Amino acid sequence: MKVLVCGGAGYIGSHTCVALIEQGHEVVIYDNLCHGSLSAVDHIRQLSGADVRFVQGDVRDKAALESVLSSGFDAVVHFAALKIMSESCRLPLLYFDNNVAGTIALLQAMQATGVHRLVFSSTAAVYGDPDVVPIKEDAPLRACNPYSHTKLVMERLIQELCEARPSFSAAILRYFNPAGAHPSGLMGEDTGGVPSNLMPYVSQVAAGMQDRLHVFGGDYPTRDGTGVRDYIHVMDLADAHTKALDVLRVGGCHVLNIGTGRGYSVLEVVSAFERISGRRVPYEIVDRRPGDVAEVWADPSHAQETLGWHAQHDLLRMCADAWRWQSMHPHGYQSAQVIELRQAMPSGSCR
Ligand code: NAD
Ligand code: WQD
Repeated sequence: MKVLVCGGAGYIGSHTCVALIEQGHEVVIYDNLCHGSLSAVDHIRQLSGADVRFVQGDVRDKAALESVLSSGFDAVVHFAALKIMSESCRLPLLYFDNNVAGTIALLQAMQATGVHRLVFSSTAAVYGDPDVVPIKEDAPLRACNPYSHTKLVMERLIQELCEARPSFSAAILRYFNPAGAHPSGLMGEDTGGVPSNLMPYVSQVAAGMQDRLHVFGGDYPTRDGTGVRDYIHVMDLADAHTKALDVLRVGGCHVLNIGTGRGYSVLEVVSAFERISGRRVPYEIVDRRPGDVAEVWADPSHAQETLGWHAQHDLLRMCADAWRWQSMHPHGYQSAQVIELRQAMPSGSCR
């Protein structure tokens, strides 16, 4: 298939582009680079050996999208969104404009150009605080911040479109907690500073860039009192997208949990990371983080049945790949640019 990957210069999008090309698809990346990076695009080209086309553009720009899509595409994979919950509480209008208005413009452009297949990035955050774990797709939806609300609105929009236009098919993938990096260490999550998610923060503590990990809450009703999550390797996520595209060849509208089905506590992640990196990860238990819940993990059996997909990488592998990325790119893609710049400069001219 010829696939437009919106948000393909970001963390999950870049890994998915490589996986799509490895499966024989042609990929065009569309990204406004508000968070993504041209270095990620370079690494996609390097790892895949394909001369991937990159278009810098915003998903809210319907005319620009129509112009790109009019060259003939079979599908769109839509990662382009803002994703930081705390920021969404401060800037709800920005989040609804970027995420929801962007998705409306994309769907309109797809309709205008006859593109009928969509894979959409959703999140386990739509479940909020679940009544039971593991979580099935028909669990109550309890989005509790503007970011998660945008995802619920977009899910509903896509489902309504599938109902109204049977030729339109979609896979809505609810990711649990993405972690890890490409095994080459060339691609990973560029957090652009101090990370808010656990795995990149632990990586920075192990690397000595942060003093210690603040463990948010030690009094949850879990096996060791710390929060439990379903960490899923980004390479497994990428694989789920390629399988979702295959399923869309026969149509339908699918909502699928993409997780491993296993939860790990914060302290278990710390201990796995210490084992893999050979470094200490000092931590201190502090107050709970507002909005956090005790336990979230997936029942991924629907994805197994529908896509023939299941996660293949375990927590140790996620830590190993995250650590390799951290060691090779201590300051994200900027590190690579600095190294490339240094190599391009006459010796002695770089301070
Ligand atoms: P990311 O920020 O690394 O990637 C998102 C990409 O979209 C970036 O390259 C950014 O520049 C681009 N983008 C954002 N708004 C855009 C716009 N208006 N027009 C064009 N490009 C735009 O994030 P990620 O972690 O790769 O997340 C990808 C998707 O997965 C997002 O939709 C996110 O909500 C969802 N998701 C992420 C996680 C996670 O923890 N990383 C978990 C669940 C769901
Ligand atoms: C994991 C656990 C924290 C940082 C969020 C979104 C989810 C998805 C991924 C977008 C929790 C604890 C964390 C730290 C800690 N994003 N923690 N110290 O909150 O489960 O999920 O990001 O869609 O939808 O909800 O992920 O990595 O922030 O936290 O103790 O410095 O680690 O309390 O138990 P979370 P996380």
